[in-house]
Amino acid sequence: MSTIYQERLHRFRQMVKVENLDGFLISNGENRRYLSGFKGEDTQMDESSGVLIISENNQVLATDSRYTEQATQEATLYEVVEYKTGLAKELPEILSKLNIRRMGFESKRMAVSQHEELQKELLEKGLNIELVPAKELTDNIRIRKDEFEIDCTRKALAIAEAAFMEILKFIKPGMTEKEVAWALEVKLREGGADGLSFPVICASGPNSALPHAIPGDRIINPNEPIVFDWGAKYQGYCSDTTRTIVLGKPDDELKKVHQTVREAQLMAMEAIMAGANGKAVDQIARDHIEKTGYKNRFGHGLGHGTGLAIHEGPRLSPLSTSILEPGMIVTVEPGIYIPGWGGVRIEHQVVVREKGAEVLNSLSTIIGFDET
Ligand code: GLY
Ligand code: MN
Ligand code: MN
Repeated sequence: MSTIYQERLHRFRQMVKVENLDGFLISNGENRRYLSGFKGEDTQMDESSGVLIISENNQVLATDSRYTEQATQEATLYEVVEYKTGLAKELPEILSKLNIRRMGFESKRMAVSQHEELQKELLEKGLNIELVPAKELTDNIRIRKDEFEIDCTRKALAIAEAAFMEILKFIKPGMTEKEVAWALEVKLREGGADGLSFPVICASGPNSALPHAIPGDRIINPNEPIVFDWGAKYQGYCSDTTRTIVLGKPDDELKKVHQTVREAQLMAMEAIMAGANGKAVDQIARDHIEKTGYKNRFGHGLGHGTGLAIHEGPRLSPLSTSILEPGMIVTVEPGIYIPGWGGVRIEHQVVVREKGAEVLNSLSTIIGFDET
């Protein structure tokens, strides 16, 4: 395993060098895991299980006593340093030992207050170390997946789809959204998920018009749309799937909306291949939805990358500047949302290959729509 981290560190150091930096501070949890193997999590915005300091020839993982043992076991290429008085107070000494003069940091992750504190400590200790904000560099290190990462995503997806098949055996009208969402969560865990990619969405009837609805006490009725959006994590890698199902018989309007979303998804997936551009792929799905009569009913982007984070690059959206490359994993998730009536979304995960998209899902997209 350590060869994977050697290779990633090597690649990262080359990127750091191109930016004329002689060190880099990693505080983003997914980047930390990607570059070191340390699985510690930051359970809220202002919590940290540690940082990496990567110089030209050394790599240090600085953490506190809650994680020292775990970090030593998992980040075998790193010197683990335990801080006792807080990171900002002890970081200057580490940077000075490593001879770092120009250090990049993740400007998307570091809080303004942390930056101020670190800057103050450096000044007080008389150290002339420049802190250089870097955004693109760390945005892109995880963007192309290797076959190990793709396999972990496949496994996460297999757990997620099997869990859904299990709940389809017993969910019925009369249950609440919360009950159904919990049943799915239990099956995900029983099936071997390390955790959830994000809280399960189960949104019925008019609630399905809310793309990121929170399951509530609403009782599910027959013949109405029910949007499920759920994902398992496996070895840190996230699956992300949406299906819209009906318990009973969909009416003609629901059938038309569902059919339109399915077609939009298939058309967009046809266009995914190496070299395709994220904005153009989004446009294909959007145009189809608009010309079928649902203009302005598809508000969000068509898709996003997944990996150790549920949302990462590249993007498929009207604002995207991404060009797709082999090994990227993206979701394709068009939707139509009509306030007061409901909504339909269908979401797949695909791997970008040279000549097309490899679809990772095997779960039907027409559950409840197939016998009508
Ligand atoms: N559930 C989050 C997403 O599909 O992007
Ligand atoms: Mn999703
Ligand atoms: Mn998604």
